[in-house]
Amino acid sequence: EEQTSPTSSSSSPPPSSHFIGRKEDVIQAKRVTKLVGGRDVLVLCHQGKLHAMDMRCYHTGGPLKEGDIEEFDGRMCIVCPWHKYKITLAEGEGLYQAVNPSATPPKPTWRSKGVKQRVHQVTEVNRDVYVTFNDSPDTIDSDFYQTERYRATMNMA
Ligand code: FES
Repeated sequence: EEQTSPTSSSSSPPPSSHFIGRKEDVIQAKRVTKLVGGRDVLVLCHQGKLHAMDMRCYHTGGPLKEGDIEEFDGRMCIVCPWHKYKITLAEGEGLYQAVNPSATPPKPTWRSKGVKQRVHQVTEVNRDVYVTFNDSPDTIDSDFYQTERYRATMNMA
């Protein structure tokens, strides 16, 4: 649905957005990670549509840049390469399969854990790509991997 797409076009960058790169370059690279405004973000292009999210997986910080994109239950997800967690591109929801044991035969169904990965707004201006942070005040699990404390740990490793 175009209306709920996180990508939008406009004639000037939104206030407090961050420049990522030229759209051609993002498309060519397929995945771009960049530290902007104190946050490490992943921007990717899938089927012609741009998406942005925190670059480290909400589970234990896996590199989503290396994840495959697959559809589950009709929703496009990035699959974390570390433990195969599935994250919807549009909302950052964690999806998992639950089995209803009382159904015969037991039938797995897809469920959502809610929003776990912070996804950001992408705007295109004259084929330049900008990201505007999702400023939801609620803590989202992926926020932990954006902290200075976490970065310091990574730099020591
Ligand atoms: Fe991503 Fe575990 S770190 S699934």
